[in-house]
Amino acid sequence: MHIIYSKVLTATPDMLICPIFEDGKSGDISDTGLGKIVKDMQKNKLFKAQTGEYKLVYSSSKGLPKRILLVGLGKIIKVNDGLIRNTVAKVLKSHLGKDINTIGVLTYKALDLYTKPLAEGIMLVNYNFAQYKTGKDMKKAKEKLFSDLILFGKNISVSVKKAVKEAQILSDSVNLVRDLVNGAPNYITVDNFAKEAKAIAKKHKYSIKVYDRAWIEKKGMGALLSVNNGSGNKTAKLVVMEYKPKVMTKKDPVLFVGKGLIFDAGGYNLKPSKYIEDMHQDKAGGALVVGIFNALKDLKIKRHVVGIVPLTENLIDAYAQKPSDVVTSYSGKTIEIRNTDAEGRLILADALAYGVETFKPEYTIDFATLTGACMVALGDRYAGLLGNNESLMKAIKKSADKTDELVWELPIHDDFRQAMKGKVADLRNIDNGTSSLAGTSKAAAFLEYFVGKSKWAHLDIAGTAYNEKPKATDYPFATGYGLRLMIDFLENC
Ligand code: BES
Ligand code: MG
Ligand code: ZN
Repeated sequence: MHIIYSKVLTATPDMLICPIFEDGKSGDISDTGLGKIVKDMQKNKLFKAQTGEYKLVYSSSKGLPKRILLVGLGKIIKVNDGLIRNTVAKVLKSHLGKDINTIGVLTYKALDLYTKPLAEGIMLVNYNFAQYKTGKDMKKAKEKLFSDLILFGKNISVSVKKAVKEAQILSDSVNLVRDLVNGAPNYITVDNFAKEAKAIAKKHKYSIKVYDRAWIEKKGMGALLSVNNGSGNKTAKLVVMEYKPKVMTKKDPVLFVGKGLIFDAGGYNLKPSKYIEDMHQDKAGGALVVGIFNALKDLKIKRHVVGIVPLTENLIDAYAQKPSDVVTSYSGKTIEIRNTDAEGRLILADALAYGVETFKPEYTIDFATLTGACMVALGDRYAGLLGNNESLMKAIKKSADKTDELVWELPIHDDFRQAMKGKVADLRNIDNGTSSLAGTSKAAAFLEYFVGKSKWAHLDIAGTAYNEKPKATDYPFATGYGLRLMIDFLENC
């Protein structure tokens, strides 16, 4: 998408978005030739600019764009980033179409503070997933995309331009996550996922290592291997990416670990219909790590960041792991496999233990579509947040509220830790009998055994990463949840 700035309003855009406050001075836009239109409409109560209210006006005036989309933002004192982002996204999404390739947006002083969420709202809806469509269907899906964004404003400041640039980097990275998560499991295979990660690393000149199954065996990552055993092609990988900026605020890195489960059939504890179909989404945590790396350098993040993604499928074949198998994890702890569908915690256990030992991070944060229980508890708007460090979780909550990528804290009670202790091995991957109760907490209690003394937080994104019913800034399926949240965290930690 091209970004263009213009001091004077022109007729170029196919549609012009005019964000308007209910009690704002339309004086701000009066000298654009639009002020009168808006003022008259407000006076005649045709358009009050209440939150979410919109009006599409067709103008025949020479200097004005043909379509003018008035978007109400409500009263200025009630406005916040989330409201701006969501309102603009929702209204724009319903107006995109065939003849709209250039979008204009009117900016003015009272809006400056909200440039980033405004731009995000516009850019996040410039997405579709039509890779597998052909012919007319593909064309139709692509028609809703636009290619240029022109910002109109008399005095567009450097900080406004910076905010727009940031929004663009963020939205591009969100879209990259969405593409990876939406990708069919026969396209985004373990190998191809690793290739995508390599391409990102190459583009930004990060160091990246993609370790194969032989290396994983040599290292003794028995938990990851055990899940991979059921995969016919026996392709497991561990992707390790590192971003080390020249100027760093702290030496110790932030470690991100993302579940990269290419397809989760459940293994011998096979998932039934209605639960298995969309399990290509189970790589959302891993995709998030790759997406974050796509943004780090361009956003000039000043922290040393390491990203680790364990990659495998969870299928059934003659060598697949069985309930009652015992495996030895990278940490040395032995694990009784009680349920082959609780595979995410197994692959994360090895990735976390390896990451913490190797990189000695200040913070460790993992992302995983880990439990159906999290969806039951929190639905699709909040990710589950669990961890062992109050101040780290507080910082994540703060970023969550700011970015509207929400989190809700769930507890790790000592009883849950006890519940994950094994009968014959050190640990077991699900507890006895009551595994459906507090499932998200118990999964986190299991992970906690592998993070050592590191300050650690776990985000269960099972409900937020993938939705049939999208929220304002999303389309059906992959959401790219967590990217804006984690970048905000990195900017402030
Ligand atoms: N990938 C699933 C969790 C999931 C469910 C993600 C729905 C997204 C949407 C995970 O591997 C899983 O199967 N978890 C089990 C754990 C259980 C066996 C303790 C679950 O939630 O049923
Ligand atoms: Mg599973
Ligand atoms: Zn899974």
